[in-house]
Amino acid sequence: MSTFWNFWIIGLTLINLVLVFWVLMANRKVAVNDEADPENKTTGHVYDGIEEYDNPLPKWWFQMFLATFAFTAVYLLLYPGLGSYKGLLGWTQINQLEREEQKADNRYSELYGNFAELPIEELAENPKALKMGLRLFANNCALCHGADGGGNYGFPDLTDKEWLYGGSAEKIKESIAQGRNGQMPAWGDILGEENVANVAEHILSLGGRDHDVEQAKAGATVYNQNCVACHGSEGEGSHLVGAPNLVDDVWLYDGSAAGIRQSIRQGRAGAMPSQKDKLKANKIHLLSAYVYSLSQDYE
Ligand code: HEC
Ligand code: HEC
Repeated sequence: MSTFWNFWIIGLTLINLVLVFWVLMANRKVAVNDEADPENKTTGHVYDGIEEYDNPLPKWWFQMFLATFAFTAVYLLLYPGLGSYKGLLGWTQINQLEREEQKADNRYSELYGNFAELPIEELAENPKALKMGLRLFANNCALCHGADGGGNYGFPDLTDKEWLYGGSAEKIKESIAQGRNGQMPAWGDILGEENVANVAEHILSLGGRDHDVEQAKAGATVYNQNCVACHGSEGEGSHLVGAPNLVDDVWLYDGSAAGIRQSIRQGRAGAMPSQKDKLKANKIHLLSAYVYSLSQDYE
C-alpha cells in the first residue's frame, strides 16, 4: 500500500469514528430551555401538530455504544485495521492458519508417529491404519486413480500386480513421495506411419494376439532398434523408466491395435504429482501402506 493510500484509509477510518461519536453525543439530549415553562419536556419541534418529546436513548443502549467505541479502539490497536499498521499482536491470516495447522499436526502426530515406526508391510495389515489410509486416499488420490484405486485411462490401476515403477513397499513410497513422469517419445515423425503400424503388429505378436505376420516381422526390426532400451527385448517393460509391460493385457492407455498405434505415433507423458511437500512423511507412510494393501489379494 502506498503512503498516500495508507494515510487515506487511516484518515477516513478516524474521521468516521469521530463523526459517529459526535452524532451520538450531539443527539444525546436536546437543550429544552423553555424559561416560561421549566416543566416543558418537548423539544419545540412540531410536525403536523405532533410535538417531539426529548427522550434520550435508553441508558444501557447509550453505554453499549460507548462500549463499542472502546472495543474499536482496543481492536485497532492490537490488530491490523488502520492502513498498513500491523497491530501490536502481529496477527496475520497466514500465521493464524499456520498455528491451526500446527495444532492439528500435534493432535495427529502421536497417532501418525506410532504408525511411522512400523514397516509398511506390517501397517498394511493394521485395520486402523488402513482406515486412515483410505480417507487420505479418498481426499488426495481418488480423483486420478479412482475411489477404489482401480485407475482410469492414463492413470494406473493400483490394485493389480502390474506396476510401472515397482510394487515393493519401498518403490510405492518413492512413487508417492517423489512423483513420477513417464516419458514415451512420439515416434510418428521419426518412423513414419508404415513403421508405426508394423511395430504395433509386432507388439500384438509379442502378446500372442492376432496380428499380420509380414508387418510384425518388419516391426520386429523397428522394435529392436528403438524400443528395447525402455520396453525390454520381450516387451516386458522397465521399472527404471516406468515403461509399461506391452505383452500382458493391462494397458495404461488404449490396448486395441489402433490405440497402440496412437500411443506410438503421438507419445505419452503420464504425470504423477509429487506429494512430499503437500502431505509430509507420516501421511505418505500411511498412504504407502494403504496402496500396498490394495494389490495383496490380487491373483
Ligand atoms: C493428478 C493425478 C494424480 C494424482 C492426484 C495422484 N496420482 Fe498417482 N499417478 C498418476 C499418474 C498419471 C501415474 C502414472 C505416472 C506415469 O505414467 O509415469 C501415477 C502413478 C502412481 C503410482 C505408481 C504406479 C505404478 O504402477 O508404479 C503410485 C503408487 C501412485 N500413483 C499413487 C498415488 C497416491 C497414493 C496418490 C495420492 C496421494 C496419487 N497417486 C495421486 C496420477 C495421479
Ligand atoms: C525412453 C523410453 C521409451 C522408449 C524408447 C519407448 N517407450 Fe514406449 N513408453 C515409455 C513409457 C515411460 C511409457 C508410459 C508413458 C506414461 O507413463 O504415460 C510408454 C508407453 C508406451 C505404450 C503405451 C502402453 C500402455 O500401457 O498403454 C506403447 C504402446 C509403447 N510405449 C510402445 C513403444 C514403442 C513401440 C516404442 C519404440 C518405437 C517405444 N514405446 C519406445 C517409454 C519408452
